[in-house]
Amino acid sequence: MSNLKSVTSDIRLFKPSKSFCDIANINSIILDSLNNEAKMDYPLFWANLAKKHIHWHQPFTKILNEDNPPFFKWFEDGVLNVSYNCLDRHLVNNANKTAIISESDSGIIEKVSYKELYSKVSVFANALKSIGITKGDTVIIYMPHSIEAIVAMQACARIGAIHSVVFGGFSSKALAERVIDANAKIVITTDGQKRGGKIIPLKNEVDIAIDMLPHDNPIQHVIVYKKISYEKLKWDKPRDIWWHELIKNKSDICPVTEVDSEHPLFILYTSGSTGSPKGVQHSSGGYLLGSIMTMQWVFDNKPNDVFWCTADVGWITGHTYVCYGPLAVGATQVVFEGVPTYPAPDRFWQIIQNHKVSVFYTAPTAIRTLIKLGYDLPQKYDLSTLRLLGSVGEPINPEAWLWYYETIGNKSCPIVDTWWQTETGCHMLSPIPGVTNLKAGSCTQAIPGIMIDIIDESGKILGNNDNGYLVITKPFPSQIRTIWNNPKRYEDAYYPKDIGDGKYYIAGDFAHKDKDGYFWILGRVDDVLNVSGHRLGTMEIESALALNPIVAEAAVVGRPHDIKGEAICAFVVCRGERPTGAKAKDIESELREWIGNQIGAIAKPDEIRFGDNLPKTRSGKIMRRLLRSIAKGVEITQDISTLENPASLEQLKQVN
Ligand code: PRX
Repeated sequence: MSNLKSVTSDIRLFKPSKSFCDIANINSIILDSLNNEAKMDYPLFWANLAKKHIHWHQPFTKILNEDNPPFFKWFEDGVLNVSYNCLDRHLVNNANKTAIISESDSGIIEKVSYKELYSKVSVFANALKSIGITKGDTVIIYMPHSIEAIVAMQACARIGAIHSVVFGGFSSKALAERVIDANAKIVITTDGQKRGGKIIPLKNEVDIAIDMLPHDNPIQHVIVYKKISYEKLKWDKPRDIWWHELIKNKSDICPVTEVDSEHPLFILYTSGSTGSPKGVQHSSGGYLLGSIMTMQWVFDNKPNDVFWCTADVGWITGHTYVCYGPLAVGATQVVFEGVPTYPAPDRFWQIIQNHKVSVFYTAPTAIRTLIKLGYDLPQKYDLSTLRLLGSVGEPINPEAWLWYYETIGNKSCPIVDTWWQTETGCHMLSPIPGVTNLKAGSCTQAIPGIMIDIIDESGKILGNNDNGYLVITKPFPSQIRTIWNNPKRYEDAYYPKDIGDGKYYIAGDFAHKDKDGYFWILGRVDDVLNVSGHRLGTMEIESALALNPIVAEAAVVGRPHDIKGEAICAFVVCRGERPTGAKAKDIESELREWIGNQIGAIAKPDEIRFGDNLPKTRSGKIMRRLLRSIAKGVEITQDISTLENPASLEQLKQVN
């Protein structure tokens, strides 16, 4: 850890403008009092908020159950329904308020009010019930980012079914693995989608996935929403059912299924440091509370805001800040199905102008792409409705931060750089926009009620001006409850005995805490890459490569990338002779395709190099640090005295 680069803390502070502060939900007096309350009694602090901000069908009397750490329970005897909190409770005063402004890839705009969304969700919930889906059943959703995906998720929540959304960019194989692990009864999909002008036949992928499953697989039905009238569709009767046929004659009233606060709301698979993805399971009450409070504190939600989070519903950001958070606080939000660069790199700026977006939340990788494709392009658009900007997914480099601040925010919008994870459910570290003085590249400090520190290997809590493991020292309502089907993996991965003695939630990131107590994320501790803000396990990619008959052995590392943050670099030993020249090029493209099919396009290596051997210690461990230097193209300065086969390095330095 000592060789980790410390970031300078002696840099410029950006203060929020007076006009922003004057109307912000949280000023410094409120923030101090929230922090003090949380410091005095953090369970009580959260309990008071849960009573105020959530509609409970039956109020809770128990706050936090710590009897069986780290399996914490919050508000366990409370009874609620998340969909009721997102829809029904707005019908009294805000029935006609626009809930969603949806813009498709090709530019078709559809607006849906809270009343209309409530009806759509109720109809679909009744449809799910009619095919036997009930409380506790698991449902896979494999759909494009769209109103229908939100309807499907909300409908599951409405009847107590547990959804697991699989990002539409994942391959059929990845889908099959998730269907099995989640033991899903149905898959909800579309015939296809258009993204960046290209057709992606999603239902075909579902067919391929189901063909991979054992004969006695749990899937009873595939529900298909007709989105693009894809012609080459295969149909398996009676398994496959059209969405529009299933909802025929279904009532638009569907009383909610009341569930316990700890009832699983969803499972979302994410990469870990081993080969198989982890099914992160979230609760109902605690997760909802985190979504609501961060909408209010971090996004400073106002009744007239037009909120736009660009994340796909297939990721945690799309769960919390598209499907649940904005609806729970009754916001109006934009849902954009396409990509920032299609048909031209001004698409985001057009959307902000046309829909008068006031709060814009995106990822550094998108910002860097847009800078590259059109530094001055935003100036052609009226972005004056913006009042707050957000960033998520990876560290934002100061240059990108400054461009975002100056060119998009016109130096008047605070930027909330939000650090959090699939497992934390909602923001953990973030500026409070009307209070915090910003530093470009720092996600600043913990939000109220969240206790974050850095520790060293021995578990000692470190102070300012130090680097260490980022840990959350106290339980919090929105946290992961377990890994689906694997409670032991949950304990081992997040409360390991060897770091912090199992007392703290170990996030898996290194961080620096500067002289003012601001946090700077330095990167992952484990073998997890962050490619365009998405987590990918190196082991997951290595296992997939090793499945290919050409491959004898493979090692995968990351290297810095201007746009994506990190790029994937694979080192491969083939069976038989080491390929060179044109043959190497052919095998490289074959293996890239293979990874696309095994995991999904996001996991395709940017570069594959071939060698006769991988650099190993005498005990047979691959020396990845050396591979990292090779991938970066920098000189190897590390100690190589334990290296068994130094000649392997020279070969691997050669580009195909
Ligand atoms: O390494 C951190 C990075 O993304 C990881 C979590 O990835 P995922 O579960 O896919 O969730 C991404 C969206 C919440 C973290 O462990 N990360 C996330 N946000 C930031 C970040 N790194 C630096 N700054 C951030 N704001």
